[in-house]
Amino acid sequence: MKYLLSPSILAADFWRLGEQIKAAEEEGISYLHIDVMDGMFVPDISFGMPVIESIRKSTDLFFDVHLMIEQPERYVEEFARCGADLINFHLEATEDVPGTIVKIRSLGKKAGITIKPATPVSALEPYLGDVDMILVMTVEPGFGGQKLMPECLQKVRELRELCVEKGVAPDIEVDGGITKENLSLALEAGANVIVAGSAVFRGDTAANTRGLQEILQWFARGEEPDLPDPRR
Ligand code: DX5
Ligand code: ZN
Repeated sequence: MKYLLSPSILAADFWRLGEQIKAAEEEGISYLHIDVMDGMFVPDISFGMPVIESIRKSTDLFFDVHLMIEQPERYVEEFARCGADLINFHLEATEDVPGTIVKIRSLGKKAGITIKPATPVSALEPYLGDVDMILVMTVEPGFGGQKLMPECLQKVRELRELCVEKGVAPDIEVDGGITKENLSLALEAGANVIVAGSAVFRGDTAANTRGLQEILQWFARGEEPDLPDPRR
């Protein structure tokens, strides 16, 4: 299985966005997590197509777009056009989950479903074989810099088991409150794509990225990272 870091630009300093993305890219990242918020599905408004389009011109990174918007099916074509490689939408935000998946796929993009902390894993069951990724939120969506909710990691475990049982293997992504200290818990629970905003872009982006990537590589090799146990 591939283990990937997907830095969330929501935590970047937008004055220095290009420079910060480049710093992470030089440390070997291949994914970039892009949080789009509409002020309806979540209270905040982040950014949209023009920002994504501008970044797209300067990088070949895989754009992992996380739509926190109501009725995401309205905007799938637009996000595909402006450079998304994968479009993650919230299960709670649409009445037409299968139609939204088909729409994303018909545009040649990867499709992902996201669930909020209160949404049970069982709600995903009908779609597990139809998507490339499941994103399990580990905080309430809407803001960066929150603390990881440990009970959400239990859902990751449950989801990975359900996928194995069903013989499917979508990527499982976690998003929210991931740090160098708790990353191994998310990996042990079964996540293989890791979003990190503050843990990458607050402070020294290159050093932060290196630190997180090292843990992912240790885990991929089956080694124990030399870190304090966050459970203690
Ligand atoms: C929250 C967003 C996250 C956020 C993560 O609604 O979906 O992607 O940027 O930020 P951190 O890693 O700071 O919790
Ligand atoms: Zn996100």
